[in-house]
Amino acid sequence: SYQPLIAPSILSADFARLDREIERIPSADWIHVDVMDGHFVPNLSFGAPVAAAVGRVTDKPMDCHLMIEDPLRWVGDYVEAGAANVTFHLEAADDPVAVADLLHVKGSRAGVSIKPGTPAEMCFEVLDHVDLVLVMSVEPGFGGQKFMPGSLDKVRALRAEIDRRGLDVLIQIDGGVDADTIGDCAAAGCDVFVAGSAVYGAPDPDAMIGTLRDRALA
Ligand code: DX5
Ligand code: ZN
Repeated sequence: SYQPLIAPSILSADFARLDREIERIPSADWIHVDVMDGHFVPNLSFGAPVAAAVGRVTDKPMDCHLMIEDPLRWVGDYVEAGAANVTFHLEAADDPVAVADLLHVKGSRAGVSIKPGTPAEMCFEVLDHVDLVLVMSVEPGFGGQKFMPGSLDKVRALRAEIDRRGLDVLIQIDGGVDADTIGDCAAAGCDVFVAGSAVYGAPDPDAMIGTLRDRALA
């Protein structure tokens, strides 16, 4: 049966109190950690030492989303930080299969992400080598942006190809996911839902996770 996974992004949390901010979301399935290098995206967030600190304060699977250049050089640091899943950007990788293979050797799951301007078909050739595909539904770099509905056509194309090949690859969506947009994402075939501002901007972040899960199941 369909089990939507809700992955709150700590990008919208209070960075000075990450332990407390993670304690506020006991219903989260995964903890989404957005790493930005100021080069691949026009913003900086934090790197592997902060991811390692997050890993020390939660037993939940840590889902690192690397919006960075040269992922082959850096992904190992995030596995060592305790990530269960590390997602890199297709656009940033010279050899995406090599990055995915390295992640598996290091001991994490491997995800590949595409920006809004990258066609879904561009990641078809790596589908057999990854555990997850992340479809960005905003331009990566900032939380709190508006959901781009055009991303759902890409989700449907990926869903069809993954099912056609009989693969066990999760589809994740990230950017502008909230109680109003999550239903369409689920209907299009998403399995994992990242939500930053929708969760941490809510008066009760954990109740919002329940709302998001209900809407994905509706
Ligand atoms: C954006 C990040 C997202 C971001 C989502 O580049 O990858 O994970 O935190 O934030 P919201 O849910 O506010 O769009
Ligand atoms: Zn993200």
